[in-house]
Amino acid sequence: MYELHPGRIRKQLHTSYFGSIAILFESVDSTNSSATRLASEGFPEGTTVISCEQSNGRGRKGRKWFSTSKGSLLFSIIVRPKRGGGGLTLLLAYSVAEALDDFISGCVIKWPNDIYFGRRKAGGILAEGTSGYAVIGAGLNVNIDREGFPAELAGISTSIEMESGKAMDRGAILCAILDSFEGKYGLWSERGLAPFRERILERMLYIDKEVIIEDNGSKTEGRFLGITDEGYLLLDSSDGLKSCYSGDLTLRSKDE
Ligand code: BTN
Repeated sequence: MYELHPGRIRKQLHTSYFGSIAILFESVDSTNSSATRLASEGFPEGTTVISCEQSNGRGRKGRKWFSTSKGSLLFSIIVRPKRGGGGLTLLLAYSVAEALDDFISGCVIKWPNDIYFGRRKAGGILAEGTSGYAVIGAGLNVNIDREGFPAELAGISTSIEMESGKAMDRGAILCAILDSFEGKYGLWSERGLAPFRERILERMLYIDKEVIIEDNGSKTEGRFLGITDEGYLLLDSSDGLKSCYSGDLTLRSKDE
């Protein structure tokens, strides 16, 4: 808990407003839900909700988000963007990946919202919003060892500790992420992902590969060409160029 204490976080931050109001819970239903409640009460942009535990942590498509109280980093930020929220999920994923460079190498992004090392997931981002504000939350497996994951996740998940061989300070990682995100957010508000596209694609898993996107029961296949300013995935399919807004991305051939 001390690691994530708001006073300690504020001292380490270099931001102007992201994290300047930081609220830490020992346990909450979901930091995204809590931040949404605060946003509806008028809390300002940059307010950051952190929790050691979540009783109802959510992933995309209503999935549950697994976490441990000592090993996960769980937080959500209130944003009040001047443009539509397109690309915000990828912007935070990219900010997380860049921030992690100070701690560990090899972090990549899996469209649309995942943090990966190799072929294993170490974190995910969930943006939720209504008009006027959005909440963008991240869950990162920091100090969890292989035995710490439930059987169904053990083969597909990883953590910073498993990848680096050492335990890390979750507060320091959170500060690095908030610094990185604030540094990009202003430019994103004006120009979307365009200024970051090249650097995002350098870290993008499966770029230029033959992939499948599954979304609500429909499958689209083709070569993963890139992303739009709003974070859509561009696919060269047999029916021509397609842009995909959401979905689960997998490789067409399991050999690659
Ligand atoms: C995903 O991979 O599907 C997204 C996972 C997002 C999990 C984080 S944990 C903090 C925040 N609160 C939630 O309930 N979800 C996000």
